[in-house]
Amino acid sequence: MAVIGIVREPAGEARVAATPATVATLRKLGHQVVVERGAGSAASYPDEAYAAAEATLVERERAWGSEIVLAITAPDPEQIALLSDGATFIALLSPALRPDLVESLAQRGITALALDAVPRISRAQSMDVLSSMANIAGYRAVVEAAHEFGRFFTGQVTAAGKVPPAKVLVAGAGVAGLAAIGAASSLGAIVRATDPRPEVADQVTSIGGEYLPVDVAVEKSADGYAKATSEAYDRRAAEIYTEQAADVDIIITTALIPGRAAPRLITASDVAAMKPGSVIVDMAAGQGGNVEGSVAGERIVTENGVIILGYTDLASRLAAQASQLYGTNVANLVALLTPGKDGVLAIDFDDVVQRSVTVVRDGAVTWPPPPVQVAAAPAKAPVASTPVEAPAKKSMSAGRKALLIVLGIAALFAVNAFAPAPLPQHFTVLTLSVVIGFYVIGKVHHALHTPLMSVTNAISGVIVVGAMLQITDPDPVVQVLAAVAVLLASINIFGGFAVTRRMLAMFTKGGQK
Ligand code: NAI
Repeated sequence: MAVIGIVREPAGEARVAATPATVATLRKLGHQVVVERGAGSAASYPDEAYAAAEATLVERERAWGSEIVLAITAPDPEQIALLSDGATFIALLSPALRPDLVESLAQRGITALALDAVPRISRAQSMDVLSSMANIAGYRAVVEAAHEFGRFFTGQVTAAGKVPPAKVLVAGAGVAGLAAIGAASSLGAIVRATDPRPEVADQVTSIGGEYLPVDVAVEKSADGYAKATSEAYDRRAAEIYTEQAADVDIIITTALIPGRAAPRLITASDVAAMKPGSVIVDMAAGQGGNVEGSVAGERIVTENGVIILGYTDLASRLAAQASQLYGTNVANLVALLTPGKDGVLAIDFDDVVQRSVTVVRDGAVTWPPPPVQVAAAPAKAPVASTPVEAPAKKSMSAGRKALLIVLGIAALFAVNAFAPAPLPQHFTVLTLSVVIGFYVIGKVHHALHTPLMSVTNAISGVIVVGAMLQITDPDPVVQVLAAVAVLLASINIFGGFAVTRRMLAMFTKGGQK
């Protein structure tokens, strides 16, 4: 049984690597959990809650000296010295940016896993702390902007006059950007968004934003992320940012290309063109900044009264929520590393997730891992300035089509000429209905086929009435046919209601009826 230590983070970091709930998960995996006193207090998880989850509260040295140590921030030299021989240390380590840290962890002869190196593949989503934290940070960026902005986000008509809604521009619609778009639009603002990946347009509109396309094609890298944008793209995007800066009240920038400094999107002259009281949140301030004049970790007020927030601790500002998601991501990683649920940690280098996160193994540097093919979103066509043609279906040759139409008309005439009345009349109505139905339904988009069922419900109603009128006919064949018609039409009607009910339930918020 391995002992897992949860350490108290340094000042300025309010999150904690495990919550009482995730302590329970870790214990179910066969581990014993010790928590440094006060580790969760800044995130509103008191020591008593950990004790209730059957964790042992310990002093700093004991927590750091555990076989497995879970943390949020990278350790300093003094903390590295506290780690015991052969320990496994799991935290956010930024290995690509901090080779010195990787080296000093290796010299200590331990195993170090970087949670920020979890590849963005579907199987690893439950361990993807960067996405969890970016989601929280995007939401918090809007809360910070709303706090600084001296007006409502939503438009209102009041007795004291009409209030227009705030206009928000979100640059970069990745995880953080989409969270910001969702939060700002749910507060009632008009939200616009840019991103070089045109495939995000649908996601932006589905959460209430408007996608501003930069109609210049962007190359996509093999890993599904945007590549560095071209000069032509940057020029057109810059024009859009200049137009938008003069119009919007809030700008939230989240643009990032993995492994590079943050692209500069908003220039000092764009900021100068903004109205006094406008707010910019530069979420990439810690990576060099998307906004000219932003400073990492600082709140700046420009000469023209624009507030620029460069906070780098946005997730930590929602510490309870962030700790819950971080703790769950870590517990999922520990579960992957404890396949036998017996408290024995076993790192499998054949597993792409375990290989990617391991930066040091038993004192040997294993960073960088081999590249992983990740597709953040299914590849789509480049910027669609011209509509993209669907792959052509194999269509029937014109000759065959003509032959089928001639045969159909001949059959119709034959039935009309030889069949006894009133069959020809009914047969003509049936044929015309099939032709009209084929064209009407064929031209309706797939997504609208369910509402179309309401129309078929009405037709089924007519069938039920007709069949009930026929069911008293003395001929038993007619009676059976009428009964079958009532049965089939009723299935359609009740099935339609059931499907509609299920669809409506999808729009009902949990617990509400
Ligand atoms: P992500 O990779 O999911 O999204 C980045 C988006 O930027 C992508 O959709 C990409 O296509 C887009 N992009 C790239 N170049 C662009 C350009 N020239 N113009 C417009 N968009 C462009 O990244 P995620 O996880 O959403 O993180 C976004 C940023 O937020 C990162 O810089 C990250 O470090 C930062 N962050 C900041 C936090 C804070 O406390 N300040 C906390 C969490 C994340």
